[in-house]
Amino acid sequence: MSRADIHVAVLKGGWSPEREVSLSTGQECAKALRQAGFRVSEIDIDRSIAGTLEALHPDVCFNALHGPVGEDGTIQGMLNVLGIPYTHSGVRASSVAMDKPTAKDVFTRHGLRCPGGMVVHIQEFERGHPMTPPYVIKPIDQGSSVGVHIVRDGDNYRPGGEDWTFGERVLVEPFIDGRELTVAVLDGEALEVTEITSDRGFYDYEAKYAEGGSIHLIPAPIPDPIRQEALDVARRAHEALGCRGVTRCDFRYDDTAADPGTLYLLEINTQPGMTPTSLVPEQAAYRGISFPDLVARMVEGARCDY
Ligand SMILES: Nc1ncnc2c1ncn2[C@@H]1O[C@H](COP(=O)(O)OP(=O)(O)O)[C@@H](O)[C@H]1O
Ligand SMILES: [Mg+2]
Repeated sequence: MSRADIHVAVLKGGWSPEREVSLSTGQECAKALRQAGFRVSEIDIDRSIAGTLEALHPDVCFNALHGPVGEDGTIQGMLNVLGIPYTHSGVRASSVAMDKPTAKDVFTRHGLRCPGGMVVHIQEFERGHPMTPPYVIKPIDQGSSVGVHIVRDGDNYRPGGEDWTFGERVLVEPFIDGRELTVAVLDGEALEVTEITSDRGFYDYEAKYAEGGSIHLIPAPIPDPIRQEALDVARRAHEALGCRGVTRCDFRYDDTAADPGTLYLLEINTQPGMTPTSLVPEQAAYRGISFPDLVARMVEGARCDY
């Protein structure tokens, strides 16, 4: 079958806090899929998505969603039921990756070093700091640094204010000083290590998605043993959760206290950003895989869990 005969539906948008990032990912991926020769429809998903897909019956869904529903196994389960092959990870890998404490448990069992930490009820913050600052508070199940807060000495930030929409329990981790690294894995192979630097102090939503908000150094200027470790840990994390297609692991690399320092795995993203400023397409390009080739490979690897 030629690519022009393969109808790809790009699923984007939706109603998660990462809607805007997803619209951007979806638009860029749709453009690249057309360049690669596929027949492409773009769908901004709503709660009638199952009926929409039944009427359209595409050959493949390209999942360009970010955040809850699109990234946590929900859409993946629906596509399993509809029998439409989809890109990226299936139900179990998606839902485990999206739940940061659960993913950390799995990583730790596989011998992958993560920051320590615990799950804390937001009411407990009324009694004071749950751990000695500096520490990081993050929602259990969001991405794109949504809701992430770094608490430093003297900071009396409490999660759970009026605009808090991220549930009653949060993940609290010691703040890992040092540098920010990320590694993409494509079909089980780690691509490269990128260092992200930002003058905002930490890599927040703005720095991630604003043009010029962060600087990507590829390959990362880090010692070779740390590079090898990051590539290896990303590949093993992808495998530990049974991920498919593309994932991206975020790391902190603390080189402040020792040489060469210590690498900590923060999380795996099963639906990493694929926008013009995104890390995965950059790493693929560095490995000689163009953006249209990358999305074409993802479509060719699309499947259902069962
Ligand atoms: N334990 C930590 N120590 C230092 N910085 C952290 C820590 N956890 C998160 N951060 C910062 O917050 C950002 C977002 O955290 P991450 O765990 O990757 O969640 P997400 O990207 O899903 O919001 C990281 O890229 C990093 O800059
Ligand atoms: Mg992250």
